[in-house]
Amino acid sequence: MAGFLIKTFGCQFNELYSATIADALRRGGHQPSDSLGEASLVIINTCAVREKAEEKAFSFLGEAAKLVGASRIVFMGCTATLDRQRAVRIAGRGLNVVEGTAGMEQVLTLVGTVVSLGQVDCTAPRSLFPTADIELIRGCESYCTYCIVPKSRGPEVVVDAGEVLHRAERAIESGFSELLFLGQNINRYRSSLGGLVETMSAVDELDGNFWFWFLSSHPANFTPEELRRVMELRHIEHRLHLPLQSGSDRILERMNRRYTIADYARLVEPIRENADWTLTTDIIVGFPGETDDDFAVTVDAVRGFRFDGVFLAKYSDRPDTPASRMQDKVPPALIDERHSALLSIVQGLSGQSNQVLVGRCVDVLVLAAHAGGNAFGRSIDGRNVWFSCSEPAPGVGTFVNVTIDHGSREGLYGTRVC
Ligand code: 5AD
Ligand code: SF4
Repeated sequence: MAGFLIKTFGCQFNELYSATIADALRRGGHQPSDSLGEASLVIINTCAVREKAEEKAFSFLGEAAKLVGASRIVFMGCTATLDRQRAVRIAGRGLNVVEGTAGMEQVLTLVGTVVSLGQVDCTAPRSLFPTADIELIRGCESYCTYCIVPKSRGPEVVVDAGEVLHRAERAIESGFSELLFLGQNINRYRSSLGGLVETMSAVDELDGNFWFWFLSSHPANFTPEELRRVMELRHIEHRLHLPLQSGSDRILERMNRRYTIADYARLVEPIRENADWTLTTDIIVGFPGETDDDFAVTVDAVRGFRFDGVFLAKYSDRPDTPASRMQDKVPPALIDERHSALLSIVQGLSGQSNQVLVGRCVDVLVLAAHAGGNAFGRSIDGRNVWFSCSEPAPGVGTFVNVTIDHGSREGLYGTRVC
């Protein structure tokens, strides 16, 4: 049967937009399809943060254009803003393009010109059940020198705290158990209630059994006092994702990150003093001008902060960014070498971090439950948990307690106790 197919690359914002579109299409009477050959509408939601994701999107676009034709394709997201011409060259002039700076309303309006959608409520809770994603700020004005997002997503647009609270309330009432608040640099959020901490404190006052957390924090716009206040909230998950990017002050300055390693260390002190909280980060390997010494101090920092998880990226030149104009590029072979050296260190750290929980009982949000007594979930501090349980299996979105028998670098393994 003919249906719609959505291909999503990149970040949580794209996941949220894709989930909203899928929901609107389903309500409009359209069925999802998992084969390009059978689809009558294809949506490609693109990411431009690294070149590889962009190339994948273009190659998928080429395939889709051959099978369904340009006029049945919506090409959206960051790459759609940056390289509309290449997309049209690949797919043909009938291609529907929506820029990455567009809000949900604009995206749905365009999708509605390709297939009928009927009435759509853009503020209804969505994302992959049981997690509702809620946008706080769209766009970015932090201008890290390697990053394409300020250009592809445009200046910051803030959702008022009243609207945020309304969406959170609706999500909880609709049965969502976890709320994820989103902003590229969420610590720059300012609205009618104050900043991020005031808004999260108001969310914490809502009735219901739910957890929440937020992405992504920026060390230059977050203070230890604010972090301590967040850590006291009742419903907050016990995890912070705080991108470090490099362990070298010299490289951090060239990245325009606006903090030093000492600032970062002061900021994460409350987390590292509290064994119930985890700390994860992003690191870019091979930023222009990164010397052996810069890399060595990055390795020291990764070990020193004992990150529970690290998202490692190889530096990728992005068009027209300040970093792309820097002359002293690191050779790709050296980037590969540093990447694999650091990868084995971060895998070791994740393994150690998970070992510590063996024998403990942890709070888990159930994300999947299978017949035969096997289930999967996420602990309150953000770890994957695979566990066995007796029938009846717990429902997706419920909270359970699991005793941990074993830990690996991928996560925890245990048995449900209640
Ligand atoms: N090259 C490599 N990694 C990048 N990131 C952003 N831009 C680039 C780039 N040009 C990484 C950063 C950021 C994460 C979302 O993607 O680590 O925190
Ligand atoms: Fe890019 Fe920096 Fe903005 Fe994050 S804070 S989206 S890395 S410019």
